[in-house]
Amino acid sequence: MKKILLTLFATALVGVGCMAQTSKTSMNNKKILVVFFSHAGENYAVGNIKVGNTKVVADYISEITGADQFEIVTHKYDGMAYTPLTQLAQEEQNKDERPAFEALITNAKGTKLDKTSLADYDVVFIGGPVWWGTYPQVMFTFFDQYDLNGKTIYPFTTHEGSGLGRCVKDVKQAYPKADVQNGFSIYGHDVKEGKSKVEKWLKSINL
Ligand SMILES: Cc1cc2nc3c(=O)[nH]c(=O)nc-3n(C[C@H](O)[C@H](O)[C@H](O)COP(=O)(O)O)c2cc1C
Repeated sequence: MKKILLTLFATALVGVGCMAQTSKTSMNNKKILVVFFSHAGENYAVGNIKVGNTKVVADYISEITGADQFEIVTHKYDGMAYTPLTQLAQEEQNKDERPAFEALITNAKGTKLDKTSLADYDVVFIGGPVWWGTYPQVMFTFFDQYDLNGKTIYPFTTHEGSGLGRCVKDVKQAYPKADVQNGFSIYGHDVKEGKSKVEKWLKSINL
């Protein structure tokens, strides 16, 4: 009897193991990318931060889903205090500027990938801070340069009151043939304690 019970228990454990394996594999069957811009330094409500709020969320997404990352990197705002940065950002938006950026593409473990095309990704998360009601202009430079039409896109933001602002509308306008899903937003000052909110959102979207 004891032997039978042990065998049943072992079989059940193998079953649970397989289930965990299956759900991970089905998530990983889709190639997922997180495209984001994030500004480290002096910021509203959080002081001087070493890692930008949006990057914290991008890292949660990669940790949970295994997604690669495409970081939109610019040094244009390095070392700027918050108030002059808001002025510069407003000017850029008024002039509809397209600041230059460098691409930093890494896997979920942070290892640099040598890639030029995003063709092999099925699902793309697009995230950034809200600057004057929408994404920073440098993200529009990315939109101009990379065609994500045909992909499933999940916009997200970190913000201090605007929520998603005009971001979802602007992503839809940039990629009219993409399947742009509902967005997710989180207060910048909440991201450090916000992993469970990100996890809940990711569970709800059935990747
Ligand atoms: C230039 C600038 C403009 C901003 N404009 C807005 C805004 O319009 N609405 C809002 O809710 N937050 C605004 N914020 C706050 C940021 O969206 C928020 O701090 C965000 O979490 C920063 O993310 P990051 O650290 O990834 O750059 C602004 C911040 C800056 C620096």
